[in-house]
Amino acid sequence: MWKELKDRAASAEDRKILKLFANGNRAEDFSCRFEDMLFDYSKTNIDPATRAFLLKMVNDVDLNTRRDAMFSGAPINDTEGRAVLHTALRNLEGHPVLVGGADVMPGVLATLERMQQFAVLARAGIFTDVVNIGIGGSDLGPAMAVAALAPYHDGPRCHFVSNVDGAHIHDTLKGLNPKKTLVIVASKTFTTIETMTNARTARNWLVDGGAEPEKHLAALSTNLEKTGEFGISPARVFGFEDWVGGRYSLWGPIGLSLMIAIGPQAFRDFLRGGQAMDRHFQTAKGEANMPVMLALVGVWHRQGCGYSSRAVLPYDQRLVLLPSYLQQLEMESNGKSVAMDGVALQPDSGPIVWGAPGTNGQHAFYQLIHQGTNVIPCEFLVAAKGHEGDLAHHHDLLVANCLAQSEALLRGRSLDEARAKMADKFDGEELDRQSAHRVFPGNRPSTTLIYPKLDPHTLGAIIALYEHRVFVEGVLLGINSFDQWGVELGKELATALGPVVTGQEPAEGKDGSTSALVDYVLNHR
Ligand code: F6P
Repeated sequence: MWKELKDRAASAEDRKILKLFANGNRAEDFSCRFEDMLFDYSKTNIDPATRAFLLKMVNDVDLNTRRDAMFSGAPINDTEGRAVLHTALRNLEGHPVLVGGADVMPGVLATLERMQQFAVLARAGIFTDVVNIGIGGSDLGPAMAVAALAPYHDGPRCHFVSNVDGAHIHDTLKGLNPKKTLVIVASKTFTTIETMTNARTARNWLVDGGAEPEKHLAALSTNLEKTGEFGISPARVFGFEDWVGGRYSLWGPIGLSLMIAIGPQAFRDFLRGGQAMDRHFQTAKGEANMPVMLALVGVWHRQGCGYSSRAVLPYDQRLVLLPSYLQQLEMESNGKSVAMDGVALQPDSGPIVWGAPGTNGQHAFYQLIHQGTNVIPCEFLVAAKGHEGDLAHHHDLLVANCLAQSEALLRGRSLDEARAKMADKFDGEELDRQSAHRVFPGNRPSTTLIYPKLDPHTLGAIIALYEHRVFVEGVLLGINSFDQWGVELGKELATALGPVVTGQEPAEGKDGSTSALVDYVLNHR
């Protein structure tokens, strides 16, 4: 299947995407809808036959059976022997979901209720500031969503500390009043060195500032033993189970800071958006299924065409953290080179995911996207309407820029067009030379996800859309998208290097570069 995909991509390489628009209503045919949201993939080099082939690939790997296994609580994360049930966290009606024969839903809903009660109290004026201490999925999810939903933020200010670099917690706590600050320690394992180091520093800061830690600390974790050892009373611990992966955990207790920021009702709207996307993913057929099509576009570009990265370009300043969030979601999930059965992966692993909001990126890295030698598929996101009614003209410009970029990538500018533009300034050889610099190859693929307005429901749907995309891509690749063994070696070596960089242990057995760097550190302290 991978060879055929690559062959198809190779034979489409020189085909003009623009020409595909000549047949029928491509914009309508090569887009799909979920509620009011539109995913347009017509500006890619996928034609009807390729789409049919991609959909056949999905059938061949029996995606529906794998999907149903995930939703039903089967232990599909089989290198860790765990179910994968972040979807249960937004199963608001509480339809039973069984793990090992026991329904997990009463526990999920009881925790959601406790979170709500706590959030109501936290929003009642006792705290002016909330500091979420976590890293990876215990940071990026709530940090991304709090920024995204700023227009709905009517609770205390929220801050996020993730880096073990003391500068992060120092700069965050500076200026905050310990007596008015809630510190949330968010860690699935409650052993992550960065988070526990920051949590101890924050606890000392509370004590030094005259605040009683037991009234100013809360914990979000699966490890109730460790939260107890840290001194956080069970009443202020919001637990979850190991079947919620870190990068999928925003929907449950890890979302507490978001709930405190926007309130329980808006948080439920967010969950409802995710849940609605779950239903769509479970029921929409073939090319009408948005997560499936988003995944197939991804597979076409990465495993078919061989493009090594994809850019996520939200034309929404409040989605500034979405690229980072998706970077973890996609790269930690599908950055694997071993298939489920333990043998080397045949196709390429998932792509590099990166990006930044438009229009800022236009003045930074779009040059390379338009004229660099590598093709980078671009994934635009934009709302039809902004929240700032009095600044609607800003939003008009934002939307115009977003659409202009995908149009420019598609069309490009030929040498003749460039020459025509420059003919009044140059002639002869200089006209040739100057025009060559102004050629845009075009035919560069992009997709656009467009929605009416970025509200909590829509954000929930977008995040669930990407989660399911990652799942579909992982099933096609035949990998386990829910473990992350690739982060372990660095953690082990960092632990071993701890006493070496303080000079307590020699840099014995280290490679020449590492020893020399340790020497440099020791000599410059
Ligand atoms: O090291 C990677 C990782 O395990 C991520 O998957 C996770 O989101 C992050 O670390 C934080 O883990 P925890 O929530 O257990 O502190």
